[in-house]
Amino acid sequence: MTANLSTYFSKSGYRTLVIDGDLYLPKLAFHFGIYNPVYNLHTLLKNPDMRVLNAVYHDINTGVDVLPGSSRLCDVIDLDSKRLRDIVREISTRYQLTIIDSPVGIPFDTISTFRLAQYQIIVLEIERSPIRSVHKMIENEVIKLKALGEAYGLRVGVIINKVRESSRNIDDVVDFLEYSVDVPVVGIIPYDPKVPEATNVGRPVLEYAPHAPASKAIREAGDVLNGWIFGKETKKDGVLHRLYEAIVSFLHFGRVPAGKKL
Ligand SMILES: Nc1ncnc2c1ncn2[C@@H]1O[C@H](COP(=O)(O)OP(=O)(O)OP(=O)(O)O)[C@@H](O)[C@H]1O
Ligand SMILES: [Mg+2]
Repeated sequence: MTANLSTYFSKSGYRTLVIDGDLYLPKLAFHFGIYNPVYNLHTLLKNPDMRVLNAVYHDINTGVDVLPGSSRLCDVIDLDSKRLRDIVREISTRYQLTIIDSPVGIPFDTISTFRLAQYQIIVLEIERSPIRSVHKMIENEVIKLKALGEAYGLRVGVIINKVRESSRNIDDVVDFLEYSVDVPVVGIIPYDPKVPEATNVGRPVLEYAPHAPASKAIREAGDVLNGWIFGKETKKDGVLHRLYEAIVSFLHFGRVPAGKKL
């Protein structure tokens, strides 16, 4: 999601940097075809005198700048993850948008950077739990992460990814998130075999297969975030879209807002 959203913003004309904040299991750079970077976030963490720019790689296909992590076991020993904040503070001034990819679960590796951030996007995979207990999982994960983000004054949103069997229940899940958990859903991305295909060749799906269903949905999520971050109105704000919105809000007029059981 980080690789693809950064591709969206780069292709929309913003100078965009991604940083792999998954310090113990970094994988972000693989999505840009970078596998063994000599200089990386870990060399920066270990060598405070090194210039941050030396570890930044420009991906010519997407235009995204990438600060990768190291996959070597010896590089994760004695990490000072608090130094990550100094690195982010220094390098992010060169960019209009910096996205820090956090590890799965509670983002212990990147928490020091929350003080520099403005937004927190929680990527949710609802199919990791049985649909009957999905509200328990959401309470467990989203409520905790949202509370963490809000404690730092971040604007929080959710993107639901890899939607497959649960697509029948997706409206209920979205209602639960928006009305009960009180967090906006900025995107719903279908499971799409083009995504692992793109991963295998080291390219974000948005660039590899721009017309694939997942790419289309990621661009829609990007449009919403573009509105949040840069206040940009997207092409969706045309007459037809307003008509569609009017019909949708009319249809949603009578629905039950909070505490809904899934
Ligand atoms: N919408 C999708 N449809 C199909 N496969 C996907 C989709 N999104 C991601 N994937 C695949 O799942 C893999 C993991 O991506 P994901 O977005 O889940 O990363 P993650 O949650 O950060 O997990 P990790 O950091 O452990 O890889 C990717 O390599 C990608 O090929
Ligand atoms: Mg990850």
